[in-house]
Amino acid sequence: MRLGPVDAIPLGEGRAFAVDGEQVAVFRLRDGTLRATQARCPHAGGPLADGQLDPRSIVCPLHARAFSFADGSCAEGGKITVHAVREEGGAIVLES
Ligand code: FES
Repeated sequence: MRLGPVDAIPLGEGRAFAVDGEQVAVFRLRDGTLRATQARCPHAGGPLADGQLDPRSIVCPLHARAFSFADGSCAEGGKITVHAVREEGGAIVLES
């Protein structure tokens, strides 16, 4: 599913998109690659798209829990869904 132009997300930031009635957060790493996760933090519903990201994880803006982009795990407990996402012709393509 195409979510729009990749340029809609500044490098190093995330944005939330509505996908089939759910919110998905898509992140554009500083190297230009994309990551995607569920948008709501499982701890208390924080907006993960507004968190700080690094190449390996997203840090929730509310209470700073860090979730792995690789498997959604968090050292402090809880887990998020990680979606497959890629860029194709300048568009964000969510694969699953
Ligand atoms: S709501 Fe995300 S860490 Fe608390």
